[in-house]
Amino acid sequence: MSKKPEMSELVAFCKSRGFAYQSSEIYGGMSAIYDYGHYGTLLKNNIRDAWWKNMVQEHAEVLALDSAIFMAPLAWKASGHLDNFDDPQVDCKTCKARLRADHLLEEFGISADKQPLDFINQELDKLKKENKLKCPVCGGCDLTPAKRFSLMVKSNIGAPTDELTDENVVYLRPETCGGIYLNYKNIIDSLHPKLPFGVAQVGKAFRNEIIARQFIFRTREFEQMEMQYFLRPEQMVEKFAAWKADRWQWYLNFGIQAEKIRWYKHEKLAHYASDAYDIEYDFQFLGGFKEIEGIHARGDWDLSQHGKFSGCDLSYTDPYTNEKFIPHIMETSVGLGRLFLMFLDQAYTKESVNDGERLVLKLDPRLSPIKVAVFPLLRNKPELVALAQDVAKRLRPHYQLEFDDHGNIGKRYRRQDEIGTPLTITVDFDSLTNQDVTVRERDSMQQTRVSLAKLEEYLHEKLGL
Ligand code: GAP
Repeated sequence: MSKKPEMSELVAFCKSRGFAYQSSEIYGGMSAIYDYGHYGTLLKNNIRDAWWKNMVQEHAEVLALDSAIFMAPLAWKASGHLDNFDDPQVDCKTCKARLRADHLLEEFGISADKQPLDFINQELDKLKKENKLKCPVCGGCDLTPAKRFSLMVKSNIGAPTDELTDENVVYLRPETCGGIYLNYKNIIDSLHPKLPFGVAQVGKAFRNEIIARQFIFRTREFEQMEMQYFLRPEQMVEKFAAWKADRWQWYLNFGIQAEKIRWYKHEKLAHYASDAYDIEYDFQFLGGFKEIEGIHARGDWDLSQHGKFSGCDLSYTDPYTNEKFIPHIMETSVGLGRLFLMFLDQAYTKESVNDGERLVLKLDPRLSPIKVAVFPLLRNKPELVALAQDVAKRLRPHYQLEFDDHGNIGKRYRRQDEIGTPLTITVDFDSLTNQDVTVRERDSMQQTRVSLAKLEEYLHEKLGL
């Protein structure tokens, strides 16, 4: 098995092969904000589509939504974000690094999750007295006490920046589920779903994260894929277990090794929550298992709060019994960027081959940015190029395809291996007389002669698409 890459290697790979670039790089770069290049966008879209297919297409009771990023500011008061959505921040006076106090404490086995600032500062002081507390960036010992740092990102839609007040400030949503709660009444009134039902959406979210050194894992602008499931309280235990199993299986179905993921059960819950689990992936370059997805039982907190603050009745009336009540909610919530990083990390493989070492992205073909590459054996033979172009033209409506006639065949294979293309097709001189081509498989490197008449059928069978 090949060793997993260091973060710097993955960052360099993403940049050099057109997967991800730091945002505004020509202006010096924006911290913890990334842009996705050609292959990165294709990979990310494929992951998103795989999630969407599983959540919406394969669950008849899950509906689709695409709500706006901006929402009524009062909604963030109702949800508790304006008062409580913050992280404890510590600054290093030597190198000016901004640090998460809870992460510093975690290194000493102290859980600061949802703990008050007093507790955090007491624990930091104890470590300082024992000379154990050091800045992870420069090793300095001069750290400030922890203070609360709001993760909410403000904007000024509809008001000039110099007239911003608490009344007219708007926020870029820190999670996408808020739009689902605010549309709950519209959904009930327009689509009349019966409990239990879910609402899924994918969209951008923004958080003013303190830590900005974890590549795409923790960014200030990111995409979330969330599903809120509305149900009767007595259905919670069964449905929570079913969604947990469902989400776990999704990872396995897309090739994640069972030993690379694990469950983390939250011991300290928000006051309204009855259960919360994370799926964690073993990111070796981030020091081990880290959260990729949360599955949370949220009770009736969200709808009750928005009902109270908006003055709207958000209860549900059972169509059979006329019973009226506020549905409870459980959610599945995952960051698309984190899935991107997880799939990339697991797929990134260096292995010895006859002519040295190759880098290959062993992605599930459904996720691969390019499904098929077509090569003419030689670029200076017009008859080979014409037939290869003809093959490419035939296949392009069905597959994201790349045509490549640069360099020798070995180099072209390596280029496709590096971006995870599962199948490559070579048109050679025999193709002209026999009307067949060589199809090479990425992982086994096995080559098979396939007749042009049966090519689509063969690719369909191999790719499972
Ligand atoms: N609605 C629930 C919610 O937002 P969360 O645990 O704060 O819960 C859910 O976030 C998921 O969103 C995380 O498991 C992670 O995959 C992703 N996520 C959160 N913050 C992120 C960030 N700054 N950068 C990238 N992904 C993030």
